[in-house]
Amino acid sequence: MNGIDSFMIIAIDGPSGTGKSTVAKGVAQRLGYIYFDTGAMYRCFAYKTLLEKIEPTDEAGLRRLIEQFQFDIQTDPVGEKHYLVNGLDVTNKIRVQEISNLSSQISIYPFVRQAMVKIQRRFGQQRNAVFEGRDMGTVVFPDAELKIFLTARPQVRAERRYRELLLKFPDLANTVSEEQILREIEERDCKDSTRTVSPLRQAKEAILIDTSDCNADEVVQRILELHAHALQKKGRMKPAYRCVYWTVRTILKLFYRLRIYGISHFRPGSAIIAANHASFFDPPVISVSCPEEVHFLAREPLFRVPILGRVIRILNSHPVSRDASDAHTFRVLIQLLQEGKKVILFPEGSRTLDGGLQPLEKGLSFLVYKARCAILPVYVDGTFRAWKRGAPFPKLWGRIRCVFGSPIEWEEFEGLDKREAMERITQRTEQSILALKDWLEKGAQGEPP
Ligand code: DC
Repeated sequence: MNGIDSFMIIAIDGPSGTGKSTVAKGVAQRLGYIYFDTGAMYRCFAYKTLLEKIEPTDEAGLRRLIEQFQFDIQTDPVGEKHYLVNGLDVTNKIRVQEISNLSSQISIYPFVRQAMVKIQRRFGQQRNAVFEGRDMGTVVFPDAELKIFLTARPQVRAERRYRELLLKFPDLANTVSEEQILREIEERDCKDSTRTVSPLRQAKEAILIDTSDCNADEVVQRILELHAHALQKKGRMKPAYRCVYWTVRTILKLFYRLRIYGISHFRPGSAIIAANHASFFDPPVISVSCPEEVHFLAREPLFRVPILGRVIRILNSHPVSRDASDAHTFRVLIQLLQEGKKVILFPEGSRTLDGGLQPLEKGLSFLVYKARCAILPVYVDGTFRAWKRGAPFPKLWGRIRCVFGSPIEWEEFEGLDKREAMERITQRTEQSILALKDWLEKGAQGEPP
């Protein structure tokens, strides 16, 4: 079940040579989304026309062919995608220039596009996904939560295509020139953007990124940040939650210079946000650092602390009794996770006495094992100094930092027996939290691990 109503779609459009495939693959990989190259579908159909000797101008022939067209994608053990046309693997055959030109010609027909769009939408209903193509944001997924339009100077695009082509087919070095590719790119751009049905164009809400002077990693990073914001919008916080969220966030920013790192690691769906526990401040700090509504458990005494008690109630906290192994607590947590929600958990069980990470208790691994959900590791720094255990009141200022790490997927533990899985879950979570601490202490360079 998905946490936020439906699956998240990232639509990436743009002409060829703008880095669409590399970027879309990178984004999908970082988010654990499926990646769908819609150009490959048009290429597959173009290949089929070549195989059956149907001219791209023969509309009746193409109509007949589209009826018989069967398209499938298979992923091999190293994660590479294979494209199948009526059972035949055509992955390498569809990347040649002849097919590029042919696919642009056959994609002008409304009946071809309708057949493709139907397949694309069917894939989009199944999981969080990154779709790349020409009309993803305008036609196929007009409601996509995040739309990106990539561009680059034609010369840069031709250079990229040339390098890519020689890498795949070194023999072409003597027969193909960069100028020729540039001409073909310009011709194809013209065809793709002037056709009457679903022409290549930027959707109104799409964010334009010019990739001429940046590398793929930089573009991926930018899209991940935009994705985190899109998630925030899609999450639609309840009005009271939103109000407390922004108030607490502003206070923490003003008085404690709150800094948040790694929100690009967020994606829809259930997860346990597993954090070190140093202070009463931790739950509200982590809650308002997340780009969507999250839930957490809090010991009953916390609900009696003036102001904080009310604040955490609105921020989706659920009271637990002193007994941490309470079966009722587990039921509440499992239910929240099954509903696709995210839950903050402090696997150490209690607040640290000296600021260091204590051994993790079994509760976290048991829950992950039962709910089969992902873990989002978090390290919170500065809350111990701001309000340590035993201090009756918090300090009024300080510096707090909250770092989200890469998700630990349930699939890592799938197939292990219960005891082994639980041990591995605990170990991996502890290592991840410590790696985030280390990253912060070494100067917080780049993305958190
Ligand atoms: O992205 P690509 O170069 O592999 O796409 C090949 C052709 O397919 C492109 O010239 C136009 C067509 N196409 C399309 O019309 N709509 C899409 N969504 C994707 C590709």
